[in-house]
Amino acid sequence: MEEHIHPIFSRLLSKKDKERFLNQKSKVFWFTGLSGSGKSTIVERLEKILFAKGYFVQVLDGDNIRSGICNNLSFSLEDRKENIRRIAEVSKLFCDAGIICLNSFVSPTIAIRSMAKEIIGTQNFEEIYVNTPLTVCENRDVKGLYKKARMGEIKGFTGIDSPYEIPVNPSLELLTENKSIDKTVEESLVFIYSKITNTKRELSY
Ligand code: ADX
Repeated sequence: MEEHIHPIFSRLLSKKDKERFLNQKSKVFWFTGLSGSGKSTIVERLEKILFAKGYFVQVLDGDNIRSGICNNLSFSLEDRKENIRRIAEVSKLFCDAGIICLNSFVSPTIAIRSMAKEIIGTQNFEEIYVNTPLTVCENRDVKGLYKKARMGEIKGFTGIDSPYEIPVNPSLELLTENKSIDKTVEESLVFIYSKITNTKRELSY
């Protein structure tokens, strides 16, 4: 830490105060998986459902973040690390403010995701592996990026000529092949509710 920086975190209201105010427990749900695996579609749906249920949620998504706070970063492994570092720090701020984060990032390596976990704090970090086989992502090719990567127009594309390391022990694994989006969202919701619902809310149902 910088020598002349004097953080005042300890004098501010706590995460607990904010959680009580919002009547929820805040966590960072970190969706990782290949490009085109369905991460963004899943978190988009989850955001609407959770919000309609009265939860205060925020989506952080790769393509959005890379057009703003991380718009100076490439897809080299070093820049991906910096991308995830910034996102993790931002998520930590949201989480401290009592907000539930739904994060959708390729975050391709084990080291990158452990860094995110360390920044956010183990107790607030839930890794969700969106397990969609490369062939399925490539066949869908919603953004046309796999085709470009195969033709060599994009270098260092995850799953093609840049690694994706499978999560070792994720909090939740979503096998999406041959499954509807609704079913996958439902599976995520069961898990998410178990982490964000505080006793007061449970009793008021
Ligand atoms: S990460 O690796 O740094 O975590 P991030 O989630 O922010 O990636 O961005 C991934 C998105 O950027 C993909 O969904 C895709 O649309 C786009 N993209 C562009 N180039 C690449 C690339 N070389 N590898 C992976 N995704 C890429």
